[in-house]
Amino acid sequence: MKILFIADPLDHFKIYKDSTYAMMAEAARRGHEIHACEPFELALASGVVEARTRQITLTGDHRNHEPQVWFRADAARIGPLTDFDAVLMRKDPPFDMEYVTSTWLLEMAERAGAKVFNRPRAIRDHSEKLAIGEFPQFVAPTLVTRDAGRLRAFHAEHHDVILKPLDGMGGMGIFRVKDDAMNLGSIIETLSDNGARTIMAQRFIPEIVEGDKRILLIGGKAVPFSLARIPQGTEVRGNLAAGGLGVAKPLSARDIEIADTVAPVLAERGLLLVGLDSIGAWLTEINVTSPTCFREIMDQTGFDVAAMFIDALEAAAN
Ligand SMILES: Nc1ncnc2c1ncn2[C@@H]1O[C@H](COP(=O)(O)OP(=O)(O)O)[C@@H](O)[C@H]1O
Ligand SMILES: [Mg+2]
Repeated sequence: MKILFIADPLDHFKIYKDSTYAMMAEAARRGHEIHACEPFELALASGVVEARTRQITLTGDHRNHEPQVWFRADAARIGPLTDFDAVLMRKDPPFDMEYVTSTWLLEMAERAGAKVFNRPRAIRDHSEKLAIGEFPQFVAPTLVTRDAGRLRAFHAEHHDVILKPLDGMGGMGIFRVKDDAMNLGSIIETLSDNGARTIMAQRFIPEIVEGDKRILLIGGKAVPFSLARIPQGTEVRGNLAAGGLGVAKPLSARDIEIADTVAPVLAERGLLLVGLDSIGAWLTEINVTSPTCFREIMDQTGFDVAAMFIDALEAAAN
């Protein structure tokens, strides 16, 4: 297959821990052609969605290589996305208007016959924070609003809450407010931009000390191990980007119940790869843009997440 990866700049990849890189390495090992571009290289010209892409070759044993030498790139060429057997959208958030625009372009390419994963419409339709609302049976008490009065009432009812923006990632803008309500007013004003932006309040889940578990769903099936990201020191955030420690664990019975319920629904919508986050018994996020944690799970458990993904991709693209 010819596989196009739309991703952030390749020379910024930390290949020892990058999930997109793990996918590339497994695809290359199987003899697939790897091509790459960045979202800004997409274009719509005379009704055709095209991209400026480069074929890349992975060099040697990649794991210990310096970032600048892990690949060799051929000359760039411009051509329609339908030239590829599969197009993988692997751009990280922020999910801003440019991201939305790229999903519109990719959806047009799909109409012309391109196979795009995850399906652009499904990426657009699933807010990573709000999509849990479709599965209320798995969600801790949660309120989404921009009304300061309702947010204060939610805190008064639940005493210990997390407040967060709807478009954050990597632990950005996460605040915990305990029973004393210290700073509640200022946090609500700041996060909601004085009522101009909708935010989320959620009951604090004490099991966060055991980690915020990343459960990967691939082609409608769960990877059997989660990566629990455990907050360190005085930090409330488990995100690896916020210094969380990643520990792979077998899925709990509840994790399996959540995954088995959610996975077929999302796979049916063209979400080939999804990263659920759960804390304790509760589903907290449904990541659909560019889920990660492949490498940590592979290294700690020996389970080949990248092979499972490329298997699913081969099946979906054919
Ligand atoms: N309801 C909650 N209870 C306890 N901790 C939470 C809760 N919601 C979020 N957190 C903490 O904040 C971190 C980031 O929250 P999350 O909603 O996953 O946002 P992000 O998109 O930034 O990863 C989590 O890893 C966890 O440590
Ligand atoms: Mg998260």
